Amino acid sequence: MFKIFFIFLSSFVSFSTLAAESSFPIIDYQSIHHPHISNTGMVVSQRKVASQVGSDILGKGGNAVDAAVATALALAVVLPRAGNLGGGGFMMVYLESLDKTIAIDYREKAPAAAHRDLFLDENGNYDKQKAQFSLLSAGVPGSVAGLYYALTKYGTMSWKEVIAPSILLAEKGFVVPHDLANTLSFSTYRKRLTSNPAAAKSFYKKNKDLYSAGEILRQPDLAWTLKQLSKHGPDAFYKGAIAKKIVKEMKKNGGLITADDLENYVVAERVPVKGTYKGFDIVSMPPSSSGGIHLIQMLNMLESYSIKEMGFGSADTIHILAEVMKRAYADRSKYLGDSDFYNVPSGLISKEYAKELNKNISLKNRTPSNQVYAGNPLPYESPDTTHFSIMDSFGNAVANTYTLNFSYGSGIVIPGTGMLINNEMDDFSSKPGTPNGYGLLGSEANSIEGNKRPLSSMTPTIIFKDKKPYLVFGSPGGSRIITTVLQVALNVMTHGMNIAQAVNSPRIHHQWLPEVLMIEEGFGADTEALLEQRGYRLYPSRTMGSVQAILNKDGYFYGAADPRRPSAGVVSP
Ligand code: GLY
Repeated sequence: MFKIFFIFLSSFVSFSTLAAESSFPIIDYQSIHHPHISNTGMVVSQRKVASQVGSDILGKGGNAVDAAVATALALAVVLPRAGNLGGGGFMMVYLESLDKTIAIDYREKAPAAAHRDLFLDENGNYDKQKAQFSLLSAGVPGSVAGLYYALTKYGTMSWKEVIAPSILLAEKGFVVPHDLANTLSFSTYRKRLTSNPAAAKSFYKKNKDLYSAGEILRQPDLAWTLKQLSKHGPDAFYKGAIAKKIVKEMKKNGGLITADDLENYVVAERVPVKGTYKGFDIVSMPPSSSGGIHLIQMLNMLESYSIKEMGFGSADTIHILAEVMKRAYADRSKYLGDSDFYNVPSGLISKEYAKELNKNISLKNRTPSNQVYAGNPLPYESPDTTHFSIMDSFGNAVANTYTLNFSYGSGIVIPGTGMLINNEMDDFSSKPGTPNGYGLLGSEANSIEGNKRPLSSMTPTIIFKDKKPYLVFGSPGGSRIITTVLQVALNVMTHGMNIAQAVNSPRIHHQWLPEVLMIEEGFGADTEALLEQRGYRLYPSRTMGSVQAILNKDGYFYGAADPRRPSAGVVSP
């Protein structure tokens, strides 16, 4: 009797507890991957301290764009490998009041004097040093113009207000996280950065000694730059005291960027590329990034397959993903470039074209890359990177990816500014048939021309469900950005994973050439053996990407900061 009463009582207790909690979101506590949850707004970035800066702005009543600009400026101080003033990027902004998504292209532009053979040596060969680590590798930076544009057009707070926290971080310093101390100690970066006196001064102690995790890094030159920006706005960078320092260094050490290049830099506001996948609406970045187009192209192709039934991480799923990726990257090499200079075929994102491409995919047999060619989409009919995601309580969302290209860019700091300069010019195709720093091939569409933007893979993306922003996300990772974003999208939309699981789960990557299937740790040995039996050459990869994502569901924001790069963080006001 007592036992029966106890069973009755305990079931009543658990039932009533559940009922009492029904106003709270239902979390899958069976999962080992727990997202961060809030309903007041959320900032997810690759540095928790920068997420805190953005969250404080939300807490003061700022909107997602105000928070985005403050976060980006803070990352320029606390994440020098990718956060930047001397680079460029892309911002997707969803504005609830207009029910509209805007794509802000603040990618670097080639200096006017750049030309197609810029990086060829006297024998006509690609000169890696010039293309990746000299001042010639620098495009005209767009970050300052882009952030100012976003703030003044779509934000609500003043430039001075959003820049103030970064000035403090640069002037008073911040605690060096393990990840920063670690990358600065890698011999490649240490050698590159200490061979440039201004970079050595910014990121190393006297005698080029290393900072340890837990010590304070102060950047007085960068604080000067930020104060100039606070006082004079972007004019300081494109015409004023900062511009003078950039041009002086270019003249002295063989760069191409002139005063006119800086003054002529313009931000482009573009119409996002849009697609659908099983009832979701995908909205992503158009050229000068290839990211949005190939994300939608691959989702269009994948829609025809029973990926859910094949299961996450199965050899069949990985095979189909690799086949789809190969075809998208073959097309990328031929058709993608800055749409202001080259007519990118709009047919790349049509469902009919995806069906055409699928006709040559076998469910069982691998197509060798030398039998995969760029397809025939309908022509044009009309007209080390970091990502952060933000949602505010007003219903707005921002997905921003920006970069210096490689980690720490060219490794060159403009003297007196504390600011690393990008090596984005290497994202152009310097010579047909010769891969760039990410092994990517390109063609005429992405050849070097003055004022042109080099082709990017950055894929800041907003996925909508029932017309509301559902998933806001993106990633760094060079050529692997698009496939990383694709897999996180599939993990949510097809496999039904919670956002932390979707971000944490292992990834693969195939980019057509080189013909290898890159594979992170975490897939089963039997899956790998089955793929090898199909002829895949597996290349065990270090971690790919670093996704910062927010899922918006049932009135709550669920955030996940990728554990692949430490010190990332989700913060809510
Ligand atoms: N620099 C890497 C990218 O833009 O894709």
